[in-house]
Amino acid sequence: MNNLKVLFVAAECAPYIKVGGLGDVAGELPLKLHEMGLDVCVVIPGNPDINAQAIYKGDFPVKMGYRTETGILREVSGSPVPVWVIDNYHYLGRTGVYGHHDDPERFAFFCRAVYEMMRKLELKTDILHLNDWHTAPIAMLIRENEREYPPLSQTAIVYTIHNLEYQGISGRNIFDLFGVKDVVFKTDKVEYYGCFNAMKSGINYADVINSVSKTSAQQMLTDTYGFGLDGVLRVRKDYLYGILNGINTDIWNPETDKEIYTPYNKHNLDGKKENKKKLQKELGLRVSDKPIFSVVSRLVPNKGLDLMEEAANAIVKEGGQFVLLGRGEKFYENAFLGLMEKFPGSVAVRLEFNNQLARRIYAGSDVFLMPSRHEPCGISQLIAMRYGTVPLVHRTGGLADTVTDVGRSKVNSNGFHFTEYSSGSLIRCIKRVFTLYRKPDEWQKLVFRAMSRDSSWETSAREYLKLYKKAMEINKKRKETGRKRFIEKKTEG
Ligand code: GLC
Repeated sequence: MNNLKVLFVAAECAPYIKVGGLGDVAGELPLKLHEMGLDVCVVIPGNPDINAQAIYKGDFPVKMGYRTETGILREVSGSPVPVWVIDNYHYLGRTGVYGHHDDPERFAFFCRAVYEMMRKLELKTDILHLNDWHTAPIAMLIRENEREYPPLSQTAIVYTIHNLEYQGISGRNIFDLFGVKDVVFKTDKVEYYGCFNAMKSGINYADVINSVSKTSAQQMLTDTYGFGLDGVLRVRKDYLYGILNGINTDIWNPETDKEIYTPYNKHNLDGKKENKKKLQKELGLRVSDKPIFSVVSRLVPNKGLDLMEEAANAIVKEGGQFVLLGRGEKFYENAFLGLMEKFPGSVAVRLEFNNQLARRIYAGSDVFLMPSRHEPCGISQLIAMRYGTVPLVHRTGGLADTVTDVGRSKVNSNGFHFTEYSSGSLIRCIKRVFTLYRKPDEWQKLVFRAMSRDSSWETSAREYLKLYKKAMEINKKRKETGRKRFIEKKTEG
Protein backbone atom coordinates (compact mmCIF):
# COMPACT_ATOMS: atom_id res chain seq x y z
CA MET A 1 0.00 0.00 0.00
CA ASN A 2 3.00 2.30 0.54
CA ASN A 3 3.83 2.57 -3.14
CA LEU A 4 0.95 4.98 -3.66
CA LYS A 5 1.24 7.22 -6.69
CA VAL A 6 1.13 10.84 -5.56
CA LEU A 7 1.01 13.95 -7.70
CA PHE A 8 1.99 16.90 -5.52
CA VAL A 9 1.06 20.24 -7.06
CA ALA A 10 2.24 23.61 -5.73
CA ALA A 11 3.11 27.09 -6.95
CA GLU A 12 6.72 26.87 -5.67
CA CYS A 13 9.26 24.21 -4.72
CA ALA A 14 12.64 24.68 -2.99
CA PRO A 15 15.43 24.75 -3.96
CA TYR A 16 14.30 25.50 -7.53
CA ILE A 17 11.90 28.31 -6.91
CA LYS A 18 10.99 29.57 -3.48
CA VAL A 19 9.19 32.56 -1.99
CA GLY A 20 8.06 31.32 1.42
CA GLY A 21 7.28 28.30 3.61
CA LEU A 22 5.15 26.65 0.91
CA GLY A 23 8.30 26.29 -1.19
CA ASP A 24 10.09 24.52 1.67
CA VAL A 25 7.21 22.13 2.22
CA ALA A 26 6.97 21.29 -1.50
CA GLY A 27 10.73 20.69 -1.58
CA GLU A 28 10.90 18.54 1.56
CA LEU A 29 7.68 16.60 2.20
CA PRO A 30 7.66 14.81 -1.20
CA LEU A 31 11.29 13.86 -0.63
CA LYS A 32 10.46 12.26 2.71
CA LEU A 33 7.44 10.45 1.20
CA HIS A 34 9.68 9.18 -1.58
CA GLU A 35 12.13 7.85 1.03
CA MET A 36 9.19 6.05 2.64
CA GLY A 37 8.57 4.25 -0.65
CA LEU A 38 5.79 6.34 -2.18
CA ASP A 39 5.90 7.13 -5.86
CA VAL A 40 5.79 10.93 -5.75
CA CYS A 41 6.02 13.50 -8.49
CA VAL A 42 5.94 17.27 -7.93
CA VAL A 43 4.38 19.64 -10.48
CA ILE A 44 5.09 23.39 -10.45
CA PRO A 45 4.50 26.27 -12.85
CA GLY A 46 7.27 27.43 -15.17
CA ASN A 47 9.62 30.18 -14.16
CA PRO A 48 12.72 31.50 -15.96
CA ASP A 49 14.84 30.66 -12.89
CA ILE A 50 14.20 26.93 -13.34
CA ASN A 51 14.29 26.63 -17.10
CA ALA A 52 18.04 26.23 -17.34
CA GLN A 53 17.83 23.16 -15.09
CA ALA A 54 14.85 21.59 -16.87
CA ILE A 55 14.67 19.31 -19.89
CA TYR A 56 11.93 19.61 -22.51
CA LYS A 57 9.54 16.65 -22.51
CA GLY A 58 6.75 17.69 -24.85
CA ASP A 59 3.79 20.03 -25.26
CA PHE A 60 0.04 19.78 -25.33
CA PRO A 61 -3.02 21.99 -25.96
CA VAL A 62 -4.70 23.65 -22.98
CA LYS A 63 -8.17 25.12 -23.41
CA MET A 64 -8.68 28.53 -21.84
CA GLY A 65 -12.29 29.54 -22.51
CA TYR A 66 -12.64 29.85 -26.27
CA ARG A 67 -8.85 29.98 -26.83
CA THR A 68 -6.30 27.21 -26.91
CA GLU A 69 -2.92 27.78 -25.27
CA THR A 70 0.15 25.55 -25.25
CA GLY A 71 1.33 23.75 -22.14
CA ILE A 72 5.04 22.98 -22.28
CA LEU A 73 6.21 20.12 -20.08
CA ARG A 74 9.76 20.04 -18.74
CA GLU A 75 11.46 17.95 -16.09
CA VAL A 76 14.06 19.26 -13.66
CA SER A 77 17.20 17.24 -14.10
CA GLY A 78 18.99 15.56 -11.22
CA SER A 79 16.17 15.85 -8.67
CA PRO A 80 15.73 12.76 -6.44
CA VAL A 81 11.96 13.21 -6.71
CA PRO A 82 10.75 13.96 -10.27
CA VAL A 83 9.84 17.63 -10.54
CA TRP A 84 7.75 18.51 -13.58
CA VAL A 85 7.45 22.06 -14.73
CA ILE A 86 4.50 23.26 -16.79
CA ASP A 87 5.34 26.33 -18.79
CA ASN A 88 3.67 28.69 -21.24
CA TYR A 89 5.22 31.69 -22.97
CA HIS A 90 2.28 33.98 -22.34
CA TYR A 91 1.32 33.22 -18.74
CA LEU A 92 4.33 31.74 -17.04
CA GLY A 93 7.69 32.66 -18.49
CA ARG A 94 8.07 35.64 -16.14
CA THR A 95 10.26 36.27 -13.13
CA GLY A 96 8.61 36.13 -9.73
CA VAL A 97 6.06 33.58 -8.64
CA TYR A 98 3.27 35.88 -7.44
CA GLY A 99 2.30 39.51 -7.70
CA HIS A 100 1.43 39.87 -11.40
CA HIS A 101 -1.80 41.72 -12.23
CA ASP A 102 -3.18 38.62 -13.99
CA ASP A 103 -2.29 36.04 -11.29
CA PRO A 104 -5.84 34.54 -11.20
CA GLU A 105 -5.66 33.88 -14.94
CA ARG A 106 -2.06 32.62 -14.81
CA PHE A 107 -2.90 30.07 -12.13
CA ALA A 108 -6.16 29.17 -13.91
CA PHE A 109 -3.97 28.25 -16.86
CA PHE A 110 -1.67 26.23 -14.64
CA CYS A 111 -4.64 24.33 -13.15
CA ARG A 112 -6.16 23.55 -16.54
CA ALA A 113 -2.77 22.48 -17.81
CA VAL A 114 -2.20 20.05 -14.90
CA TYR A 115 -5.66 18.61 -15.52
CA GLU A 116 -5.07 18.23 -19.29
CA MET A 117 -1.67 16.68 -18.61
CA MET A 118 -3.16 14.09 -16.23
CA ARG A 119 -5.62 13.11 -18.96
CA LYS A 120 -3.15 13.16 -21.80
CA LEU A 121 -0.56 11.07 -19.97
CA GLU A 122 -3.33 8.88 -18.55
CA LEU A 123 -1.71 9.19 -15.14
CA LYS A 124 -2.95 6.60 -12.67
CA THR A 125 -2.72 8.90 -9.70
CA ASP A 126 -3.91 7.56 -6.34
CA ILE A 127 -3.48 10.87 -4.56
CA LEU A 128 -3.61 14.34 -5.98
CA HIS A 129 -2.14 16.60 -3.31
CA LEU A 130 -3.03 20.25 -3.92
CA ASN A 131 -1.67 23.24 -2.02
CA ASP A 132 -3.18 26.70 -1.42
CA TRP A 133 -5.47 28.64 -3.76
CA HIS A 134 -3.16 28.53 -6.80
CA THR A 135 -3.80 24.83 -7.39
CA ALA A 136 -7.22 24.36 -5.71
CA PRO A 137 -9.38 24.58 -8.88
CA ILE A 138 -7.78 21.35 -10.15
CA ALA A 139 -10.06 19.60 -7.62
CA MET A 140 -13.09 21.16 -9.29
CA LEU A 141 -11.83 20.21 -12.76
CA ILE A 142 -11.27 16.60 -11.74
CA ARG A 143 -14.60 16.09 -9.99
CA GLU A 144 -16.69 17.99 -12.53
CA ASN A 145 -15.21 15.99 -15.41
CA GLU A 146 -15.04 12.50 -13.95
CA ARG A 147 -18.33 11.38 -15.54
CA GLU A 148 -16.92 12.20 -18.94
CA TYR A 149 -13.53 10.66 -18.08
CA PRO A 150 -14.06 7.98 -15.39
CA PRO A 151 -10.40 7.19 -14.53
CA LEU A 152 -10.31 10.58 -12.77
CA SER A 153 -12.73 9.29 -10.15
CA GLN A 154 -10.01 6.89 -8.94
CA THR A 155 -7.90 9.78 -7.76
CA ALA A 156 -8.41 10.89 -4.15
CA ILE A 157 -7.83 14.58 -3.53
CA VAL A 158 -5.99 16.07 -0.54
CA TYR A 159 -6.06 19.83 -0.18
CA THR A 160 -3.55 21.54 2.12
CA ILE A 161 -4.23 25.10 3.22
CA HIS A 162 -0.96 26.81 4.10
CA ASN A 163 -2.47 30.25 4.29
CA LEU A 164 -6.21 30.86 4.32
CA GLU A 165 -5.73 34.60 4.02
CA TYR A 166 -4.87 34.44 0.31
CA GLN A 167 -7.86 32.93 -1.48
CA GLY A 168 -7.47 33.78 -5.17
CA ILE A 169 -10.67 35.78 -5.47
CA SER A 170 -11.41 37.01 -8.99
CA GLY A 171 -14.24 37.85 -11.38
CA ARG A 172 -16.56 35.27 -12.88
CA ASN A 173 -14.62 35.61 -16.15
CA ILE A 174 -11.84 33.50 -14.57
CA PHE A 175 -14.32 30.79 -13.64
CA ASP A 176 -15.52 30.75 -17.26
CA LEU A 177 -12.00 29.81 -18.42
CA PHE A 178 -12.30 26.40 -16.72
CA GLY A 179 -15.12 25.27 -19.01
CA VAL A 180 -17.14 23.57 -16.27
CA LYS A 181 -20.96 23.74 -16.03
CA ASP A 182 -22.58 27.05 -15.05
CA VAL A 183 -24.31 25.46 -12.03
CA VAL A 184 -20.93 25.12 -10.34
CA PHE A 185 -20.91 28.89 -9.93
CA LYS A 186 -23.13 28.62 -6.84
CA THR A 187 -22.60 29.53 -3.19
CA ASP A 188 -22.34 25.89 -2.11
CA LYS A 189 -19.49 25.35 -4.58
CA VAL A 190 -17.16 28.12 -5.79
CA GLU A 191 -19.14 31.37 -5.89
CA TYR A 192 -18.28 33.94 -3.25
CA TYR A 193 -20.20 37.23 -3.11
CA GLY A 194 -20.56 37.22 -6.90
CA CYS A 195 -16.88 36.35 -7.44
CA PHE A 196 -14.94 33.16 -8.07
CA ASN A 197 -13.04 31.96 -4.98
CA ALA A 198 -10.28 29.49 -5.87
CA MET A 199 -9.66 28.48 -2.23
CA LYS A 200 -13.35 27.60 -1.90
CA SER A 201 -13.11 25.21 -4.85
CA GLY A 202 -10.39 23.27 -3.00
CA ILE A 203 -12.36 23.17 0.25
CA ASN A 204 -15.56 21.99 -1.41
CA TYR A 205 -14.19 19.47 -3.89
CA ALA A 206 -11.29 17.80 -2.04
CA ASP A 207 -11.85 14.52 -0.21
CA VAL A 208 -9.90 15.77 2.79
CA ILE A 209 -8.56 19.19 3.75
CA ASN A 210 -5.76 19.96 6.14
CA SER A 211 -4.14 22.94 7.72
CA VAL A 212 -0.47 22.94 8.68
CA SER A 213 -1.12 22.64 12.42
CA LYS A 214 -3.93 21.33 14.63
CA THR A 215 -4.48 24.69 16.32
CA SER A 216 -4.72 26.46 13.01
CA ALA A 217 -7.27 23.88 11.75
CA GLN A 218 -9.42 24.75 14.77
CA GLN A 219 -8.82 28.49 14.46
CA MET A 220 -9.88 28.43 10.80
CA LEU A 221 -13.40 27.58 11.93
CA THR A 222 -13.69 30.85 13.84
CA ASP A 223 -14.75 34.27 12.73
CA THR A 224 -11.32 35.82 13.48
CA TYR A 225 -9.14 33.33 11.63
CA GLY A 226 -11.64 32.05 9.05
CA PHE A 227 -11.01 35.00 6.72
CA GLY A 228 -14.59 34.81 5.46
CA LEU A 229 -14.43 31.06 4.77
CA ASP A 230 -15.11 29.80 8.31
CA GLY A 231 -18.72 28.99 7.36
CA VAL A 232 -17.60 27.02 4.29
CA LEU A 233 -15.04 25.15 6.39
CA ARG A 234 -17.53 24.42 9.16
CA VAL A 235 -19.70 22.58 6.63
CA ARG A 236 -16.69 20.36 5.84
CA LYS A 237 -15.23 20.20 9.34
CA ASP A 238 -15.49 16.39 9.51
CA TYR A 239 -12.98 16.26 6.68
CA LEU A 240 -10.62 18.85 8.15
CA TYR A 241 -7.30 17.82 9.74
CA GLY A 242 -4.13 19.49 11.00
CA ILE A 243 -0.59 18.27 10.33
CA LEU A 244 2.46 20.20 11.46
CA ASN A 245 5.28 20.86 9.00
CA GLY A 246 8.77 19.64 9.63
CA ILE A 247 12.15 20.97 8.51
CA ASN A 248 14.99 19.30 6.68
CA THR A 249 17.25 18.55 9.62
CA ASP A 250 20.22 17.77 7.34
CA ILE A 251 20.11 21.21 5.75
CA TRP A 252 19.43 22.95 9.06
CA ASN A 253 22.12 21.55 11.30
CA PRO A 254 24.58 23.69 13.32
CA GLU A 255 27.02 20.77 13.38
CA THR A 256 27.46 20.66 9.60
CA ASP A 257 26.33 24.12 8.45
CA LYS A 258 29.16 25.53 6.30
CA GLU A 259 27.76 29.07 6.33
CA ILE A 260 28.02 29.69 10.07
CA TYR A 261 31.26 30.80 11.73
CA THR A 262 31.84 27.74 13.94
CA PRO A 263 30.00 24.40 14.15
CA TYR A 264 28.44 23.33 17.44
CA ASN A 265 25.88 20.96 18.93
CA LYS A 266 23.63 20.82 21.98
CA HIS A 267 26.29 19.07 24.07
CA ASN A 268 28.89 21.72 23.44
CA LEU A 269 27.57 25.24 23.26
CA ASP A 270 30.96 27.02 23.24
CA GLY A 271 30.67 27.20 19.46
CA LYS A 272 27.40 29.06 19.80
CA LYS A 273 29.12 31.72 21.94
CA GLU A 274 31.78 32.06 19.27
CA ASN A 275 29.08 32.52 16.63
CA LYS A 276 27.52 35.24 18.75
CA LYS A 277 30.78 37.19 19.05
CA LYS A 278 31.49 36.96 15.32
CA LEU A 279 27.93 37.94 14.44
CA GLN A 280 28.19 41.02 16.64
CA LYS A 281 31.41 41.97 14.88
CA GLU A 282 29.97 41.37 11.40
CA LEU A 283 26.89 43.45 12.12
CA GLY A 284 28.73 46.29 13.88
CA LEU A 285 27.16 45.50 17.25
CA ARG A 286 28.91 45.93 20.57
CA VAL A 287 30.54 42.63 21.56
CA SER A 288 28.76 41.71 24.77
CA ASP A 289 27.15 38.82 26.63
CA LYS A 290 23.76 40.50 26.69
CA PRO A 291 21.04 38.59 24.81
CA ILE A 292 20.56 39.11 21.09
CA PHE A 293 16.94 39.04 19.94
CA SER A 294 16.64 38.34 16.23
CA VAL A 295 14.06 38.48 13.47
CA VAL A 296 14.42 36.80 10.07
CA SER A 297 11.24 37.48 8.15
CA ARG A 298 9.45 38.91 5.18
CA LEU A 299 8.38 42.37 6.32
CA VAL A 300 4.61 42.05 5.95
CA PRO A 301 1.99 43.10 8.53
CA ASN A 302 0.93 39.54 9.41
CA LYS A 303 4.37 38.85 10.91
CA GLY A 304 3.60 41.04 13.92
CA LEU A 305 5.84 43.90 12.86
CA ASP A 306 3.48 46.48 14.31
CA LEU A 307 4.54 45.29 17.76
CA MET A 308 8.21 45.15 16.95
CA GLU A 309 9.26 48.78 17.24
CA GLU A 310 8.15 49.06 20.87
CA ALA A 311 9.61 45.62 21.53
CA ALA A 312 13.00 46.65 20.14
CA ASN A 313 12.96 49.77 22.33
CA ALA A 314 12.24 47.62 25.38
CA ILE A 315 15.02 45.15 24.47
CA VAL A 316 17.60 47.92 24.16
CA LYS A 317 16.41 49.53 27.40
CA GLU A 318 16.97 46.23 29.22
CA GLY A 319 20.51 46.11 27.78
CA GLY A 320 19.88 43.59 24.98
CA GLN A 321 20.48 43.78 21.25
CA PHE A 322 18.09 43.57 18.30
CA VAL A 323 18.91 42.15 14.85
CA LEU A 324 16.59 42.10 11.86
CA LEU A 325 17.07 40.54 8.42
CA GLY A 326 14.43 40.70 5.71
CA ARG A 327 12.72 42.77 3.08
CA GLY A 328 9.20 43.86 2.45
CA GLU A 329 6.90 46.81 2.83
CA LYS A 330 8.67 50.19 2.69
CA PHE A 331 6.88 51.44 5.78
CA TYR A 332 8.49 48.75 7.93
CA GLU A 333 11.86 48.96 6.19
CA ASN A 334 12.07 52.67 7.05
CA ALA A 335 10.90 52.14 10.62
CA PHE A 336 13.63 49.56 11.25
CA LEU A 337 16.33 51.69 9.61
CA GLY A 338 15.24 54.48 11.97
CA LEU A 339 15.74 52.16 14.95
CA MET A 340 19.25 51.31 13.81
CA GLU A 341 20.13 55.01 13.65
CA LYS A 342 18.62 55.58 17.07
CA PHE A 343 20.55 52.74 18.73
CA PRO A 344 23.93 52.27 17.02
CA GLY A 345 25.81 49.29 18.42
CA SER A 346 22.63 47.77 19.82
CA VAL A 347 20.39 47.44 16.76
CA ALA A 348 21.42 46.01 13.37
CA VAL A 349 19.08 45.92 10.40
CA ARG A 350 19.82 44.33 7.02
CA LEU A 351 17.13 44.80 4.38
CA GLU A 352 17.83 41.80 2.18
CA PHE A 353 17.24 38.08 1.72
CA ASN A 354 20.58 36.51 2.47
CA ASN A 355 20.86 32.78 3.17
CA GLN A 356 24.33 32.97 4.73
CA LEU A 357 23.51 35.85 7.04
CA ALA A 358 20.19 34.22 7.98
CA ARG A 359 22.08 31.11 9.10
CA ARG A 360 24.62 33.18 11.02
CA ILE A 361 21.79 34.97 12.79
CA TYR A 362 20.07 31.69 13.70
CA ALA A 363 23.40 30.47 15.08
CA GLY A 364 24.62 33.64 16.77
CA SER A 365 21.55 34.99 18.53
CA ASP A 366 19.89 33.98 21.78
CA VAL A 367 16.18 34.63 21.24
CA PHE A 368 14.18 34.38 18.01
CA LEU A 369 11.24 36.78 17.84
CA MET A 370 8.15 35.62 15.97
CA PRO A 371 5.14 37.59 17.15
CA SER A 372 3.02 36.78 14.05
CA ARG A 373 -0.58 37.90 14.38
CA HIS A 374 -1.56 34.65 12.69
CA GLU A 375 0.75 31.76 11.75
CA PRO A 376 -0.66 28.50 10.34
CA CYS A 377 2.57 26.64 11.08
CA GLY A 378 5.72 28.71 10.87
CA ILE A 379 9.07 27.25 9.95
CA SER A 380 11.60 29.80 11.23
CA GLN A 381 10.84 29.03 14.89
CA LEU A 382 11.69 25.38 14.17
CA ILE A 383 14.98 26.35 12.53
CA ALA A 384 15.79 28.70 15.41
CA MET A 385 15.26 25.91 17.95
CA ARG A 386 17.54 23.60 15.96
CA TYR A 387 20.26 26.27 16.33
CA GLY A 388 19.60 26.73 20.05
CA THR A 389 18.00 30.13 19.64
CA VAL A 390 15.04 30.18 21.97
CA PRO A 391 11.80 31.23 20.25
CA LEU A 392 9.55 33.96 21.64
CA VAL A 393 6.22 33.70 19.82
CA HIS A 394 2.61 34.82 19.80
CA ARG A 395 0.55 31.87 20.95
CA THR A 396 -1.35 31.15 17.76
CA GLY A 397 -1.58 28.44 15.06
CA GLY A 398 1.56 26.36 14.63
CA LEU A 399 3.50 28.60 17.01
CA ALA A 400 1.21 27.46 19.82
CA ASP A 401 1.73 23.82 18.79
CA THR A 402 5.52 23.92 18.57
CA VAL A 403 6.58 26.27 21.36
CA THR A 404 5.93 25.43 25.01
CA ASP A 405 6.44 28.29 27.44
CA VAL A 406 8.80 27.95 30.42
CA GLY A 407 5.92 28.96 32.67
CA ARG A 408 3.84 26.00 31.49
CA SER A 409 6.30 23.18 31.92
CA LYS A 410 9.71 23.00 33.54
CA VAL A 411 10.72 19.82 31.72
CA ASN A 412 9.10 20.22 28.31
CA SER A 413 9.43 23.93 27.71
CA ASN A 414 11.47 25.15 24.77
CA GLY A 415 10.64 28.85 24.55
CA PHE A 416 8.36 31.72 25.52
CA HIS A 417 4.96 32.79 24.35
CA PHE A 418 2.50 35.62 24.92
CA THR A 419 -1.22 35.19 24.45
CA GLU A 420 -2.81 38.59 23.94
CA TYR A 421 -1.69 40.21 20.70
CA SER A 422 -0.43 43.55 22.08
CA SER A 423 2.92 45.24 22.56
CA GLY A 424 2.25 45.33 26.32
CA SER A 425 2.05 41.59 26.58
CA LEU A 426 5.00 41.09 24.21
CA ILE A 427 7.10 43.43 26.37
CA ARG A 428 6.10 41.57 29.55
CA CYS A 429 7.27 38.40 27.84
CA ILE A 430 10.58 40.03 26.88
CA LYS A 431 11.10 40.91 30.56
CA ARG A 432 10.57 37.25 31.49
CA VAL A 433 13.28 36.36 28.96
CA PHE A 434 15.75 38.73 30.65
CA THR A 435 14.95 37.27 34.07
CA LEU A 436 15.70 33.73 32.93
CA TYR A 437 18.71 34.77 30.88
CA ARG A 438 20.30 36.06 34.10
CA LYS A 439 20.31 32.45 35.37
CA PRO A 440 22.86 30.85 33.02
CA ASP A 441 22.28 27.28 34.22
CA GLU A 442 18.56 27.42 33.62
CA TRP A 443 19.07 29.21 30.32
CA GLN A 444 21.45 26.52 29.11
CA LYS A 445 18.95 23.83 29.97
CA LEU A 446 16.28 25.68 28.02
CA VAL A 447 18.58 25.96 25.01
CA PHE A 448 19.29 22.23 25.28
CA ARG A 449 15.57 21.43 25.31
CA ALA A 450 14.90 23.70 22.32
CA MET A 451 17.70 21.96 20.40
CA SER A 452 16.28 18.57 21.36
CA ARG A 453 12.88 19.19 19.73
CA ASP A 454 12.36 16.68 16.94
CA SER A 455 11.24 18.81 14.00
CA SER A 456 12.21 16.33 11.31
CA TRP A 457 9.74 15.49 8.54
CA GLU A 458 9.52 11.87 9.69
CA THR A 459 6.47 12.26 11.95
CA SER A 460 4.66 14.67 9.64
CA ALA A 461 5.20 12.48 6.58
CA ARG A 462 3.74 9.50 8.44
CA GLU A 463 0.71 11.64 9.30
CA TYR A 464 0.34 12.57 5.63
CA LEU A 465 0.44 8.93 4.65
CA LYS A 466 -2.45 8.27 7.06
CA LEU A 467 -4.30 11.23 5.58
CA TYR A 468 -3.76 9.91 2.05
CA LYS A 469 -5.26 6.57 3.06
CA LYS A 470 -8.21 8.33 4.67
CA ALA A 471 -8.75 10.37 1.50
CA MET A 472 -8.78 7.16 -0.54
CA GLU A 473 -11.39 5.59 1.76
CA ILE A 474 -13.56 8.68 1.61
CA ASN A 475 -13.30 8.79 -2.16
CA LYS A 476 -14.23 5.11 -2.37
CA LYS A 477 -17.30 5.68 -0.20
CA ARG A 478 -18.25 8.73 -2.22
CA LYS A 479 -18.17 6.69 -5.40
CA GLU A 480 -20.19 3.87 -3.84
CA THR A 481 -22.90 6.18 -2.51
CA GLY A 482 -22.86 8.12 -5.79
CA ARG A 483 -23.41 4.88 -7.68
CA LYS A 484 -26.13 3.79 -5.28
CA ARG A 485 -27.95 7.07 -5.80
CA PHE A 486 -27.59 6.66 -9.56
CA ILE A 487 -29.07 3.14 -9.50
CA GLU A 488 -31.89 4.26 -7.18
CA LYS A 489 -32.70 7.11 -9.55
CA LYS A 490 -32.70 4.76 -12.52
CA THR A 491 -35.06 2.27 -10.88
CA GLU A 492 -37.32 5.13 -9.69
CA GLY A 493 -37.41 6.46 -13.23
C1 GLC B 1 2.49 29.60 4.91
C2 GLC B 1 2.12 29.86 6.36
C3 GLC B 1 3.21 29.37 7.31
C4 GLC B 1 3.53 27.92 6.99
C5 GLC B 1 3.92 27.79 5.51
C6 GLC B 1 4.19 26.36 5.10
O1 GLC B 1 3.54 30.42 4.53
O2 GLC B 1 1.87 31.24 6.57
O3 GLC B 1 2.77 29.46 8.65
O4 GLC B 1 4.62 27.51 7.78
O5 GLC B 1 2.85 28.24 4.71
O6 GLC B 1 3.10 25.51 5.34
